Amino acid sequence: MSDRRIEDLLARMTWAEKLGQLQITYHPDPARTRALISAGMGSIFWQGDAEATNAMQRHAVENTRLGIPLLVGLDVIHGQRTIFPTPLALAASFEPRHAEQVASVSGREAASGGVNWTFSPMIDVSRDPRWGRIVEGFGEDVLLNSCFGAAMVRGYQGDDLSAADAIAATAKHFVGYGQPEGGRDYNTADMSEYRLRNVYLPPFQAVVEAGAASVMASFNTIDGLPVHANRRLLTGVLREEWGFDGVTVGDADGVMNLIPHGIAANAADALKLAFAAGLNVEMGGNVVADGVPTLSEAELSPVVVDAAVRRVLALKTALGLFERPYVVAEREIVAATPEHRDIARRMAPDTMVLLKNDGDLLPLADRERILVTGPYAESTDHLGAWVQAFATPAGRIVDALRERLPGTDVVVSAGASFLGTDEAALRAAAASQAAEIGFAIVFAGEPSNISGEAASRSDLRLPGEQEALIHAIADTGVPFVVVLESGRPLVVSDWFDRAPAVLQAWHLGTEAPAAIVSALMGETAPSGKLPASFPRSSGQVPTHYSHDNTGRPATTGGSMAPTTWDPALHGPNNVDDKYASKYLDLDLGPLLPFGHGLTYTRFEYSGARLREGDVALNALRDGATFGLEITLTNVGDRAGDEVVQLYTHDVVAHRVQPVRVLRRFTRVHLEAGESRAVSFELGFDDLAFWSESHSVPGFDVEPGAFEVFIGGSSEAPLAARITVGAPQHALSREPIAHRYARSTQASTTGVAS
Ligand code: NOJ
Repeated sequence: MSDRRIEDLLARMTWAEKLGQLQITYHPDPARTRALISAGMGSIFWQGDAEATNAMQRHAVENTRLGIPLLVGLDVIHGQRTIFPTPLALAASFEPRHAEQVASVSGREAASGGVNWTFSPMIDVSRDPRWGRIVEGFGEDVLLNSCFGAAMVRGYQGDDLSAADAIAATAKHFVGYGQPEGGRDYNTADMSEYRLRNVYLPPFQAVVEAGAASVMASFNTIDGLPVHANRRLLTGVLREEWGFDGVTVGDADGVMNLIPHGIAANAADALKLAFAAGLNVEMGGNVVADGVPTLSEAELSPVVVDAAVRRVLALKTALGLFERPYVVAEREIVAATPEHRDIARRMAPDTMVLLKNDGDLLPLADRERILVTGPYAESTDHLGAWVQAFATPAGRIVDALRERLPGTDVVVSAGASFLGTDEAALRAAAASQAAEIGFAIVFAGEPSNISGEAASRSDLRLPGEQEALIHAIADTGVPFVVVLESGRPLVVSDWFDRAPAVLQAWHLGTEAPAAIVSALMGETAPSGKLPASFPRSSGQVPTHYSHDNTGRPATTGGSMAPTTWDPALHGPNNVDDKYASKYLDLDLGPLLPFGHGLTYTRFEYSGARLREGDVALNALRDGATFGLEITLTNVGDRAGDEVVQLYTHDVVAHRVQPVRVLRRFTRVHLEAGESRAVSFELGFDDLAFWSESHSVPGFDVEPGAFEVFIGGSSEAPLAARITVGAPQHALSREPIAHRYARSTQASTTGVAS
């Protein structure tokens, strides 16, 4: 449908029909949904299968005055029928192609049932694992959220939104929702413009530039204004600065939440504020409640309403709904297919993070008997947060183990339940069997339902009495492995030193049991890296690698001591100084840093060099780049993958800088003994930061020294020091999406092994 036809349609619409296009509603009763469609409602939640959804589309197309088809929305987050690793787990792969594939397959499955609009990806940078929704996004880093978000958009939407297997993506939650005070869901997330621009907005800009069809407003406030009523953000930043021309949608009841927020007196006020701020579609069904418009033409600007209706009709047009409103019900994908399961299983090892592996206890050696214990041994709860009831379930790990090891006696002893109390007898039984058998695997973790939305936790340790179980097994002295499933970084400090090997397996979806068993057996190798730091204690949160320098940094004694400390510039090390920034009762830094992860072989980094030698950095603004190269060698005796990471630090700037910022990452596969040169190109945008200290607020590169770190985690050593010779100031000119597309590119060339 052309713009002209949209205008023709708009000209024929009544006030009620227009407002009907500006809401999405779920009602469990199909008769009621039909009645709302009759009254002009333009968007519904998915009806449960293709046939029921077609029926609603038919009603809209054939039985309403204008025959406008419906947007059919659903939270397809990490799978529809086939469930894939959670977004946080996907981020651990540092391989955006996996996310693209997840979105593409999930989109295809969902589209086959009539869904045409998903509320994904979530790209809220999250540095607080108390917040349960950390599982739905890509962790604590700006670049990871940007790359993975853009990849998901490509996967859902493909090249042509009107294709039968494409669905519209929604970037959410715009913006700042990942920083709720105290990690408590729905809480205030106020922040400075500096942080907003440098941390929380860039992933949204990347995803908008990747073509996201819609953006969802977040529940939190910014500058004392809930985003649903925040014109500066919804219109100023999103539309006027970035040129976003898609649909803005509210979060569930987010508009009505303006009333308890205390900035609207009633529903009409709330709607007026939201539409005036730039929201296009209300989620909840309050615009045309019971088929009657809540607001009259005198209360809501017709110009604002027409603009919003145009955007909704444009999305329906782009989806090809006017030409093809129905799906072929017989072709609906109603369960995970072998092909899709295979995709889920193959990506899983890249998402699992081997946190430690003393004495190469993993992969497992052949054993006659194994004791398996812990709540995940016999659980089927591997799908993770945000799956729907119709998802294809996973099986049990114990069954997968027995199938894989027919000659081994796999003995199960429950040991602990997820959330139980008074389980001393259970763990004593498990410990005595472990002692008798001589080897144990503890399958521990938090169940899916205590991560995700409305699942904030104040205590990040394993729930129930699972820590006591691990101690009881450790007390026996037998070797054992802990496999952790969770939707967030857990606090594992209490027992981490006592467990010889720990594998972080997140929630991996339908294929979790087979994937975990293959990794334990060494048929595959876990090769993920942490997308979020593991704190030492819940009281240390938020802790993240890209924190700002303080004026009194503590500089030694912990894993994250700022390596950028220069005594000549900053004075002597001061970790023993009472007045350094630290906790009296904790070592410095997280227990396990962002980017950390082992695998079944070992890698060495050597020969870091600026590839072109001294580069004319003054030319950066004109598009010049500089290259860095490092040699990576697989020094182990089996093939494996390493995620090479490059970080920068701006040593002196006019605004305080993070101690490190991830700028590039790439996954490299090397055979045993093989060496490769891995090279990266960096340019203006990689050294720039946003500030408003110049006449035009924007991204600047400032003169002076920059440090570049390359290695296998956020603790990578210094690889090069470069100097920018002259002041440079400009708005970032390279589209951010190009930059992020480049960010995972690194060329690797073989060198003599
Ligand atoms: C509330 C959540 O915050 C949002 O992410 C989701 O898309 C909507 N509910 C719809 O289910």
